[in-house]
Amino acid sequence: MNRLTNIPAAKILFSDEDRRRILAAVDETLRTGQLTLGPHTKKFEEKFAQFVDVPHAVAVSSGTAALEILLRAYGVAGKEVIVPADTFFATAAAVLHAGGRPRFVDIEPETLGLDPAKLEGAIRRDTRGMILVHIGGWVSRHIDRIRDICRVQNLFLIEDAAHAHGSRAAGGCAGALADAAAFSFYPTKVITSGEGGMITTRDERIALEAQRYRDQGKESFSSNFHTRLGYNWRLSEIHAAIGLVHLGHLSEWIDERIRVARIYDALLARDARFSPLPFPAKGRTNYYKYIVRLANVPPGFDRKAFKKSVKERFGVGLAGEVYEVPCHQQPVFAAYREGKFPVAERFCAQHLCLPIYPDMTQAQATHVVRSLQQVLTQP
Ligand SMILES: Cc1ncc(COP(=O)(O)O)c(C=O)c1O
Repeated sequence: MNRLTNIPAAKILFSDEDRRRILAAVDETLRTGQLTLGPHTKKFEEKFAQFVDVPHAVAVSSGTAALEILLRAYGVAGKEVIVPADTFFATAAAVLHAGGRPRFVDIEPETLGLDPAKLEGAIRRDTRGMILVHIGGWVSRHIDRIRDICRVQNLFLIEDAAHAHGSRAAGGCAGALADAAAFSFYPTKVITSGEGGMITTRDERIALEAQRYRDQGKESFSSNFHTRLGYNWRLSEIHAAIGLVHLGHLSEWIDERIRVARIYDALLARDARFSPLPFPAKGRTNYYKYIVRLANVPPGFDRKAFKKSVKERFGVGLAGEVYEVPCHQQPVFAAYREGKFPVAERFCAQHLCLPIYPDMTQAQATHVVRSLQQVLTQP
């Protein structure tokens, strides 16, 4: 199909050379029979820790597992954990799975993180900590203030960095900005291992706890004593080998995503209907998503119909929103829906994510923008 008229929402890249390297690693893994918690996992952890610039990284089976392990390690059972109203289901679900209760707090509109002004009012006697989510790759511009609030109130701060491999704030890389962080390597993420996740932390105790929890709560790899209520949250060697190859591309792919984003920025600069989330003043986003807030759209604008029309008329796939439905409105969390969340609700209802991937051309990006403009002008 024509490359211009078949632009997917996201693209998962494995070059011939990458596939050769992965197949060689899989072959070696099968030959040695070391299929889990072996040398590829160890190397993946070491390289990831080096990239994030923390002493510890622990590979696990998913981003969800990374969150639940951390929440268990911080002992949230019977306690409250603050989560943003705009996040993925897994952030709040992990709190419940770990025995805690999620308390939703509204976000701020600039970088889509927890609103620090609303945070303090949400802290109760039984609040144990909070999870800050780097939506679309943006680290909250208030992260220092949020960390201060946590320190003063003796609360843990976890980064949900599922979207934020290689994103940065003034203080360093996502994954090194709080007590601990959870990454996801789900296929559509900036880098993938097929399925997988990673915990990063400076805290040796948390790293040791994570190693225990991911391996059925065993005191150590060779021990038969289960001292924690862990689970099988291990990452297989084959997944680790895939992740390692992708990790080698991370810096280069972020540069490419920023290149594409600059093309979009320039094309959208004079169109008041589209308001892209600006590049952070300090640090950087990895542009996991290219987020456009819709402003001054015609009355009765229907986002679903708009996306369908863009796809049918111009072959442009518009990625899933982050998120279409705010987390607190998910039916499964009805019992935890206390409060008001106007910023999250407005953002969820009024934005789009444009296709973005490292090898996207100027012509493709231009086609995307022209398609959006045309469908908006002539529905
Ligand atoms: C913000 C956020 N947190 C957590 C997760 C869970 O990651 P995983 O799918 O690897 O379990 C995701 C998944 O996409 C996510 O977007």
